[in-house]
Parts: sequence; structure tokens; C-alpha cells
Amino acid sequence: MRSLSFSTATVQLLSAADIEEVVEIERLSNSHPWTERNFHDALVSGYLCLVARDHGAITGFAVARLLVDEAELLLIAVTPAVRRQGVALLLWIDMGERLRASGARTVHLEVRESNHSAQAFYASRGFAQSGVRAKYYPNGTHDSEREDAVLMKVSL
Ligand SMILES: CC(C)(COP(=O)(O)OP(=O)(O)OC[C@H]1O[C@@H](n2cnc3c(N)ncnc32)[C@H](O)[C@@H]1OP(=O)(O)O)[C@@H](O)C(=O)NCCC(=O)NCCS
Repeated sequence: MRSLSFSTATVQLLSAADIEEVVEIERLSNSHPWTERNFHDALVSGYLCLVARDHGAITGFAVARLLVDEAELLLIAVTPAVRRQGVALLLWIDMGERLRASGARTVHLEVRESNHSAQAFYASRGFAQSGVRAKYYPNGTHDSEREDAVLMKVSL
């Protein structure tokens, strides 16, 4: 477990018992949220799944998968009421250390072009844009409405 001096939050591995709480945060954070099944599958697949906890309540989570020396950050989200208090930073520091210890040297991710908050967070952690995937994300109800993904990466 890890904590920052200005926060009482700690980071732990996600357990199956946490998934209901995590899905609630995911629903508040993403237009096309992962389901409980997606999180169970991530655990079964051996993805690195972390939660941040403050006074017993989960305040954020992050999911990554490792592919030899490269990792992909699949999800990171924080309860809206406690954003800009360093929770994502805490999760990212822990995740980066765990990924590096497991052999990852680069972390990749995709983020919606319109998601400027997340891009600002990633940039603050040293991520740089590495490309664009055109019309990658579903947007709205029609199949034709799609949004570009910005690709970002950082060296660990
Ligand atoms: C992106 C997200 C995870 C950031 O979580 P957070 O706990 O609020 O981030 P932190 O407090 O750790 O921020 C660390 C730094 O990132 C940058 N940052 C984070 N959010 C930012 C924002 N909305 N605008 C500008 N910079 C931001 C800042 O540099 C910040 O440091 P500062 O507060 O001292 O200025 C959060 O906004 C979120 O859950 N968004 C919805 C889910 C999402 O979009 N996930 C990413 C999908 S790819």
C-alpha cells in the first residue's frame, strides 16, 4: 500500500468484491463504460487492476495490460467529487512502478480527441502524442458518428 503525505488514499490491487463500486465510478466517468463482466474478464486475464481507497471508499481505479516490454493503459478514472486532488497521480505512480518492475519500458494509451482533461493529466505525467486513430470511438447513437483517438505514449 502507498499513500501521499497530503492524502489518506491508498492504492491496492482490485478484488472481485470491489467491482460493483468501480463500475459505479466508471459509469460516471465514461460515455461507453466497461461493465462488471469487463472488469471480471480483466481480472481473469491477469491485467493489472488497481483501486485507490480513502477511508474505505474507492475513489478511483486504473487498468493496464502488459505485452512483454510494452504496456497499455486501458482505463483510469476518479470519482467526480474528488478530482484534482491527486488520486489519478497516486494511481499512476503505483501503476508505473508495478509495470516497470514487470518489465514494461513504454506505456501506450488511446484517449478521445475531445477529452482534454485526460490529455492534460497524461501530459502532466510525461505522455506525448504518438499518433491519431481516425474515427476510432463510437460517438452518439449512430454508427456513422465516430470520434478520433489521440494515441499517447511515455517511457518508464
Ligand atoms: C483524467 C482523470 C483520471 C484525472 O484524475 P484526477 O485525480 O482528477 O487527476 P489528478 O488530481 O491526479 O491530476 C494530476 C495532474 O493532472 C493534470 N490534470 C488533471 N485533471 C486536469 C484537468 N481537468 N485539466 C487540466 N489538467 C488536469 C494537472 O496537471 C494535475 O495536477 P494539478 O491538479 O496539481 O494541476 C479524471 O479527470 C477522470 O476520472 N476523468 C474521467 C475519466 C477519463 O477521462 N479517463 C481517461 C480516459 S482515456
